[in-house]
Amino acid sequence: MSLELKNVSRTFGDNTVVKNITTSAAPGEIVGLLGTSGCGKSTILRAISGLDNDYQGEISINGNTSKEIHDTTGFIFQEPRLLPWLTVLDNVTFGLKGKKQEKEKLARQYLDSVGLKDNEALYPKQLSGGMAQRVAIARALVTSPEILLLDEPFSALDAFTKMQLQDLLLDVWKKYQSTIVLVTHDIDEATYLCDRVVILRGQPGEIAREITIKEPRPRARGSKLLADYKSEILDSLDLNRAHLLSS
Ligand SMILES: Nc1ncnc2c1ncn2[C@@H]1O[C@H](COP(=O)(O)OP(=O)(O)OP(=O)(O)O)[C@@H](O)[C@H]1O
Ligand SMILES: [Mg+2]
Repeated sequence: MSLELKNVSRTFGDNTVVKNITTSAAPGEIVGLLGTSGCGKSTILRAISGLDNDYQGEISINGNTSKEIHDTTGFIFQEPRLLPWLTVLDNVTFGLKGKKQEKEKLARQYLDSVGLKDNEALYPKQLSGGMAQRVAIARALVTSPEILLLDEPFSALDAFTKMQLQDLLLDVWKKYQSTIVLVTHDIDEATYLCDRVVILRGQPGEIAREITIKEPRPRARGSKLLADYKSEILDSLDLNRAHLLSS
């Protein structure tokens, strides 16, 4: 599934929060949207998802410019947003169409792939933050989305769980070949996961730069090459103090 944004802007009242966003994602590509708080990352993601259709410009998915909610899109938010009165299994099958038995079979398959095979009968309050976020990932994947939109999906997790789930995301991406748009303000996460990082700046947020991460996968966290990309990204955000002082 390919995704294309042409001159997308969003205004609330007379406040323009994102301006002239033109970018794209090729089928199976992982594209990062990176920028400081308030630069409009979630706004762009909501427009892509069809949850918000009051934007200017054009967004097309596989060449189709409909502003409806696309049923081929999966969404993972910063917090899991599980339904507290449903079990893990029922949270994953919720919203699926079809026979109960088939829905549950499918849900179990995805719970297995996120490492929650034996936890299907638990309720959300019995889960750790990382487990709950895994359920959210399974729930998004069970619909076989061709485009997966992630809004800071790991930012509430501790560093170790975060790394595990980043690797899990790469595993499921390899298996299902979804096109992924990942909103993050974690530069290490962006360089580790993404094929391309779109850097947003300012208010209204505009694209400052796009950087292609040329390192093949699997990548090594903390490799020299990823560190160089990190430095380049910090430069584009005017956050690389050492470089600023020496220039
Ligand atoms: N529904 C809305 N009504 C009015 N203003 C809004 C609305 N949604 C977002 N904004 C404004 O748009 C700007 C961008 O918000 P957005 O949530 O897209 O930022 P963000 O880059 O995702 O930030 P963060 O990293 O903190 O999540 C903010 O100034 C916000 O106040
Ligand atoms: Mg946001």
